[in-house]
Amino acid sequence: MAENGSMTDSSEVPAVMLSGDVAMPTVGFGTWPMRGHKACEAVVTALQAGYRHVDTATMYANEAEVGRAVRESGLLRQEVFLTTKLRASDTGREREVLTASLRAFGTDYVDLWLVHWPPRGKASVRAWRELITLRDEGLIRAVGVSNYSLGQIDELVEATGVAPAVNQIHWNPRRYDAGLLEGLRQRGVVAEGYSPLKDTNLNDPVLSEIAWAHGVTPAQVVLRWHLDHEMAVIVKSADPKRIVANLNLFGFSLDSEERTQIDGLAAG
Ligand SMILES: NC(=O)c1ccc[n+]([C@@H]2O[C@H](COP(=O)([O-])OP(=O)(O)OC[C@H]3O[C@@H](n4cnc5c(N)ncnc54)[C@H](OP(=O)(O)O)[C@@H]3O)[C@@H](O)[C@H]2O)c1
Repeated sequence: MAENGSMTDSSEVPAVMLSGDVAMPTVGFGTWPMRGHKACEAVVTALQAGYRHVDTATMYANEAEVGRAVRESGLLRQEVFLTTKLRASDTGREREVLTASLRAFGTDYVDLWLVHWPPRGKASVRAWRELITLRDEGLIRAVGVSNYSLGQIDELVEATGVAPAVNQIHWNPRRYDAGLLEGLRQRGVVAEGYSPLKDTNLNDPVLSEIAWAHGVTPAQVVLRWHLDHEMAVIVKSADPKRIVANLNLFGFSLDSEERTQIDGLAAG
C-alpha cells in the first residue's frame, strides 16, 4: 500500500495517494466561474487534452455540465476524478446536498468532497463527522477541507481521529508558506493549490528567466513549481490552447535552486 502523500505514476498525469488508497491526479481542471454550455465545452476539451481530475463545487452551479462533459468525453466514470465541495452555509444538510450533487453529476459517488470554507469560521466537527459517515457509506471516496488552518485541521483530527485527505488552499508564489506546507505534510494532508495563475505576475523576471531556460512559459513554471513542492494544483482556463499548455508540465522539472528563487517571490 502506498504511503499517504506518496507519488505514483500509473497514468499520464502523476497521481498522489490519498488516505484510503485513493489515487488523485496531481493536476486538476478548475471550473469556476464557468457555467452552462461554456463549462461543458471547456471540461470536454480538458478531458480530451488528458486531464483526469475536475474540480467543481455546489457554489459553482455547474455540476450538471461537468457530469455531461464526462459522458460526452466517452471516458468511463472511474477514469475521471471528480471533486465537489459543500458550501459552508449548507452544513447541517450534508446528505441532502450530496444527494443533489450526485443527481446533478449523474453518478453514484464523488471521488473527493470538501468542506468549501470553515463554517462560520469554525472547524465544525459535526459537519466533519457527517462527511466521514457519507464516505463510509461509499458515496464519497475521500473527504477533505478547503481554506482550513492547521489548528482547524487539528480540531477535526482530535475529535474524530480522521484527518482530511486534502486541504485545498489559495496558493501561488506570492503566498508561499513553507510552515503551512510542512504542517500539512506532517499531518498526512495533501496540499492542493487553487488560483495558481490568477494572482501571479507572469511577467516577473524570475519566472521569465526560468521559463526561458526550460523553453516553457512562465505559467507552466508556476504550475510545475506546485508539483515540485509535492502539491496538487487546480488550474482553470476556457481557452483550448491554454487548457492544453497548462497540462504540458511533465517534460521538465525545476531544480532546487530554481524552486528556491520562486519561493523567494513570497510577499512579506
Ligand atoms: N476552494 C476554493 O475556495 C477555491 C477558490 C477559487 C478557485 N477554486 C478552484 O480552483 C480553480 C482555479 O483557480 P482560479 O480559476 O481562481 O484561478 P487560476 O486557474 O489561477 O486562473 C484562471 C485565470 O487565468 C487565466 N489563465 C489560465 N491559463 C493561463 C495561462 N496559461 N496563461 C495566462 N493566463 C491563464 C484564465 O483565463 P482563460 O480562461 O481565458 O484562459 C483565468 O482568467 C477554480 O476554477 C476552482 O475550480 C477553489
